[in-house]
Amino acid sequence: MYIHVLGSAAGGGFPQWNCNCANCDGFRKGTLKASARTQSSIAMSEDGEHWILFNASPDIRAQLASFPAMQPCRAVRDTGISAVLLIDSQVDHTTGLLTLREGLPLDVWCTAQVHEDLSTGFPLFRMLEHWNGGLSWREIPATESESFTILCAPSLRLTAIPLLSNAPPYSPRRDNPHPGDNIGVFLEDTRTGQTVLYAPGLGEPDERILNWMRKADVLMVDGTVWHDDEMIRQEVGTKTGQDMGHLAQSGPGGMIEVLDTMPARRKILIHINNTNPILDENSAERAELLRHGIEVAWDGMHVEVAG
Ligand code: MLT
Ligand code: MN
Ligand code: ZN
Repeated sequence: MYIHVLGSAAGGGFPQWNCNCANCDGFRKGTLKASARTQSSIAMSEDGEHWILFNASPDIRAQLASFPAMQPCRAVRDTGISAVLLIDSQVDHTTGLLTLREGLPLDVWCTAQVHEDLSTGFPLFRMLEHWNGGLSWREIPATESESFTILCAPSLRLTAIPLLSNAPPYSPRRDNPHPGDNIGVFLEDTRTGQTVLYAPGLGEPDERILNWMRKADVLMVDGTVWHDDEMIRQEVGTKTGQDMGHLAQSGPGGMIEVLDTMPARRKILIHINNTNPILDENSAERAELLRHGIEVAWDGMHVEVAG
């Protein structure tokens, strides 16, 4: 299977339009060795032609233009996107659906909770009904005991892992998340037995989640913040990583410690917030990741997961 990282940043992207934190300011001034990053989305394919879009980012238009496979040009109107899968109903993962309106109808896979948020607080499903049939909801079972398959990738077996994270700020379940508000997706290529876990919003890896992480050959997991309170320290916000449902990389019980116990062949951090010091390629934090064999996703990163 193939994975193409369309956007590796968290909400806001990097640099964020209204932000002058050390990273965003340093990037603009050219004093920081770092790459710009768009908001969180990846594309996944079994055959390299038919792609499942994991999350539809506000930056989708530039993301599609950056990856030629997204326009295979088989007909006068065409796209490489065969289906969309949403791991939550966050603004940075769903707003791009509006940009896809010219290409509807489109199958959108998500849990019942995400479908509810996107039919009420942010009613994309209802609104887009007015564009050629709209979004066709395909329900993801929010239970790890049931796997599912998407038509364009018949050899990929997908399992939704309910995650302990948080519902979006506009959701009635904010700070009271239920199973199905956030999922990670475990993918197995049944042709090769190779496995991937994609989980950009991983607040609290409990034993159940750790077990799934141990099974993955490739891990693409939450890289939002280095310090839980880095947004407060840098005076750009009041929320901690934990408030938002993201596990910090550093410190006891942090993502680095977790990843150190994992046998995965590749360990990749994704959904990087613009305040995170790992964006600076010359930082001590980036060097520390390197020592632990942990990679930082970038826009355009292509991962071939072969047996
Ligand atoms: C998150 O990942 O916690 C959200 O996307 C934050 C946001 O609302 O931008
Ligand atoms: Mn996000
Ligand atoms: Zn910033």
